[in-house]
Amino acid sequence: MHSIKNRRILDVLTGVPVDKTPVWIMRQAGRYLPEYKKTRAEAGSFLDLCKNPELASEVTVQPIRRFDLDAAIIFSDILTIPDAMGLELKFEDNRGPYFDHPLNTIKEVSNLTDENINKLEYVADAITHTKEKLNNEIPLIGFSGSPWTLSTYMIEGSATKEFRKIRSIVFNDPAMLELLIKKLVKFVSEYLIMQAKAGANILMIFDSWGGLLNANNYVHFSLNPMKEIIGNLRANKATKNIPIILFTKGGGNWLEEISNSGCNAVGLDWTIDISAARKIVGEDICLQGNLDPCALHGTEQSIKDAASKIIDSYGFGHKHIFNLGHGIDQFVNPDNLDILIKHVKEYSTKYHQN
Ligand code: CP3
Repeated sequence: MHSIKNRRILDVLTGVPVDKTPVWIMRQAGRYLPEYKKTRAEAGSFLDLCKNPELASEVTVQPIRRFDLDAAIIFSDILTIPDAMGLELKFEDNRGPYFDHPLNTIKEVSNLTDENINKLEYVADAITHTKEKLNNEIPLIGFSGSPWTLSTYMIEGSATKEFRKIRSIVFNDPAMLELLIKKLVKFVSEYLIMQAKAGANILMIFDSWGGLLNANNYVHFSLNPMKEIIGNLRANKATKNIPIILFTKGGGNWLEEISNSGCNAVGLDWTIDISAARKIVGEDICLQGNLDPCALHGTEQSIKDAASKIIDSYGFGHKHIFNLGHGIDQFVNPDNLDILIKHVKEYSTKYHQN
């Protein structure tokens, strides 16, 4: 279990000093890589790729072959959970993922099953395949969407502009949302435990839409359910000590509450200065982030400068995992990502002398 060779991210997450700031990139396996597009075409479609453990593990390791990354993240999608619960997931190239029959009533929510976690066995299989390919060189991150973020897709049908439907349900049918979230807490907990048992070394919860809520409702509908999941993980033998990263996009106003959730690291989007975030969360919690993904569309010099600013702003200390503030987009030139990763490694060394 402790035989992973590159331990930088595990060390940061467990409070051990490191020689450089470790780095991985949200959506590092994706369409900006020509080899990803090729494997996806071979699989047939995005969903076929997600459900094919051999090809999913292949795209998981593609960015590892190219770049000096300190972790892999299992290739999958957060929307596999609603799919397994009975809302059939569909995907179109120009539209992204969607559900034809989004949830409208509490009755529809009661009809959803939260019992068939085994439908997601293909993710565990992809993890097993990936672990073989990684050969213990670097750790593997498993993940899930947060109950709130999964609810937004299950109720809206897709990512919408205003999210007016779910934001109204928060006020006019909270019982429906509470029931859905309760089912998701159970499913997400079991799903993450399954991923850890299959070999995931770190778990991350993506709360991509937590930032839509007001402060009270963020705590009620998003943070508390995530805390419950963390509690379930801590109560299970397979996950009681596993490092957990919690990322609420747009969560900059609630960093103190998030850092008290029981997680080991807090993901930051690019809107907050990392030194300010560090002051808020204190020295026990790690920070992950937080370069604006669009910085990767800059020049070699501007990419390096933008990364240096974040590293300088964090300063001395060993609790920073460099990442973007959200996923890398499909239009980035992979050479620019290589420039970024090499620079983070080189430039951060001076902050890790002893
Ligand atoms: O990070 C990684 O490399 C692992 C893979 C990963 C994907 N989705 C693959 C993917 C992860 C961690 C996710 C999480 C995910 N999926 C989130 C949370 C993170 C975030 O971005 O906020 C969300 C909200 C989703 C839902 C989702 N999946 C959307 C909105 C889209 C369409 C947007 C887009 O980029 O096209 C997807 C599709 C998706 N998931 C792609 C990939 C590589 C692109 C699909 C393709 O055309 O091949």
